[in-house]
Amino acid sequence: MQNKDSIKNTIFIGIGLCLVCAAIISIIAVGLKEKQKNNAILDQQKKIVAAADLESFYGSVNNAFTSIEEKIIDIEAGLITNQSSEKYDLSKELRDPNRFIELSSAEDIATIKKREKFSKVFLEYRESQLNTVILPVRGYGLWGILYGYLAISNDLNTIVGLEFYDHKETPGLGAEVDNPKWKALWRGKRIYDENGKILIKVIKGKVDNSMDMSSYEVDGLSGATLTSKGVSNLLAYWLGENGFKPFLDNLKKEKING
Ligand SMILES: Cc1cc2nc3c(=O)[nH]c(=O)nc-3n(C[C@H](O)[C@H](O)[C@H](O)COP(=O)(O)O)c2cc1C
Repeated sequence: MQNKDSIKNTIFIGIGLCLVCAAIISIIAVGLKEKQKNNAILDQQKKIVAAADLESFYGSVNNAFTSIEEKIIDIEAGLITNQSSEKYDLSKELRDPNRFIELSSAEDIATIKKREKFSKVFLEYRESQLNTVILPVRGYGLWGILYGYLAISNDLNTIVGLEFYDHKETPGLGAEVDNPKWKALWRGKRIYDENGKILIKVIKGKVDNSMDMSSYEVDGLSGATLTSKGVSNLLAYWLGENGFKPFLDNLKKEKING
């Protein structure tokens, strides 16, 4: 009879156990993949709805999304394309040399190095009328790129909200971009002057509401001047000619279909 404690038997049982555990983990990982994907989508949807402050009106994120159209736009042309938005993935776009442009240092005010040619935007309609435009924005803060959504009301010049879903800023300093009190400061702020010049920015210190410029300014984050500057820079980029300005201009003229 074979010795149960033999080296051969121990190795055999060890390898067998490893294979069984590996198989169980693989099955669980594959089984959870779809769930993880759905959670990631839901997480994005929550941020989009939060930026546009839609949950109180629609009651839930799901409900809000029944009134939101997802479109893929050609950023340079500022027009909606007929590309499907379902499989759109920004990280894939930024790996495909046919689908991004490299930015020169003069252009790259948000320090993002490359910019996708096509972007997924979100349009919220109420009774067939455009109510909110929600645009993905990103730019470098102090420690890394902040990714977020900027919601603009249907006058295409008033901010509804700015919500970041990913960043590497320091808790208590740059990460105060997530503080509800700071986020609330964005509501109602204006973007462009009458000549289309971008004036919106985060200033150093507190906004003096008695000044004319106050409608274009948001309080700086204390102890986080670099993150604050990063937020101003990313807005300047994405609201500018190399960002979504052509699309916003076309929306104003109601000429958005490519
Ligand atoms: C550990 C550590 C973390 C920091 N994190 C941030 C940050 O997330 N965002 C930021 O702008 N500044 C951060 N700073 C501060 C910057 O280095 C810099 O001093 C600051 O932006 C200047 O802002 P102030 O002029 O408001 O003091 C951090 C500093 C230290 C030491």
